[in-house]
Amino acid sequence: MLLELATRRRVLFVGGKGGVGKTTVAAATALQQARTGRRVLLISTDPAHNLGHLWNRSIGSNIVRLAAGLDGMELDPDETVRQHLDEVGAALRRLMPPHLAGEVDKHMALSRDAPGMHEAALLERIADTLIQGLADYDLLVFDTAPSGHTSRLMALPEMMTAWTEGLLQRQERSKRFGDVLRNFGKDDSGLGESVLGQEKADGEDRQQRVRQLLYRRRERFSQLRDVIQDRQRCAFVIVLAAERLPVLETIELQAQLQRSGIEVAGLVVNKRSPADAGAFLAERHAQEQRHLDTLRQALPDLALQQLPLLAEDVIGEAALDAFGERLAVPTKTP
Ligand SMILES: Nc1ncnc2c1ncn2[C@@H]1O[C@H](COP(=O)(O)OP(=O)(O)OP(=O)(O)O)[C@@H](O)[C@H]1O
Ligand SMILES: [Mg+2]
Repeated sequence: MLLELATRRRVLFVGGKGGVGKTTVAAATALQQARTGRRVLLISTDPAHNLGHLWNRSIGSNIVRLAAGLDGMELDPDETVRQHLDEVGAALRRLMPPHLAGEVDKHMALSRDAPGMHEAALLERIADTLIQGLADYDLLVFDTAPSGHTSRLMALPEMMTAWTEGLLQRQERSKRFGDVLRNFGKDDSGLGESVLGQEKADGEDRQQRVRQLLYRRRERFSQLRDVIQDRQRCAFVIVLAAERLPVLETIELQAQLQRSGIEVAGLVVNKRSPADAGAFLAERHAQEQRHLDTLRQALPDLALQQLPLLAEDVIGEAALDAFGERLAVPTKTP
């Protein structure tokens, strides 16, 4: 199911509760797709970053080669916020009248810890990575952070587009207001006109640049939104364990994503206990089945794939290849 989904898409988001196997599933899918000859980029948006742990090497915010045809990177939220604020601060200083530079610095210092700042900055990086990645790669696999964070992130493009739109409309209004004022003053006596005229020209130039900046931003967010809402190009997959809380969170995450205009394409139930390895695990298997029944009742039509609990952690390329082969095996729907 998962590989079939990936094969026909350009972008895959893998989400779910903490520790269920998101990174493992994302990496194994990415590697398997690279083995078929596609150029694949695996991106971690998780502040806890365990992509490096999985590949037994350090991976940073620059793209590194993980295997033939497979590149990887980890978006670092702190670094992203720093870069984002530096860029915004520099732009603001250029755009604001010089005597307000001190105010800009104060504003930027406060912004660093403002609620939503990490997410907005991370989203901007995701948008950049996605737009650039679509030009350079056949498939992008995003390994996301645990549920709550991801659903908020997925709702953001919509919000940010609306917010930027609002700012642009205000800009338009103030531009029209400026035009009216200018026409009004045309047959004035001309007193002090050259000084006023210069200030006006500077102001207009700044306004024009603010507008360009906002247009670019809106364009990026709406491109991101268009891609993540397009079922032909992009799929969102939830990984979960067949336990009570992951099942409940999956149902909730699916609903939250739907509210953001994102349809979940499939579910991966990872770490299924074997039914034939002693009484203890058989009992667990039966209990898992009851939780999966709840899941099925809530989400009856979603494609679902099950993966067995393995004796060992999945670390390194060979283990990921083996895990990828399991992804290719069709599994019974519970
Ligand atoms: N089917 C499996 N059987 C046994 N161990 C597994 C299985 N799938 C994943 N693991 C192991 O479970 C641990 C957690 O997996 P992983 O890091 O992929 O989860 P995650 O959802 O990305 O976690 P986090 O929310 O912390 O990012 C890892 O040690 C991994 O090797
Ligand atoms: Mg992870």
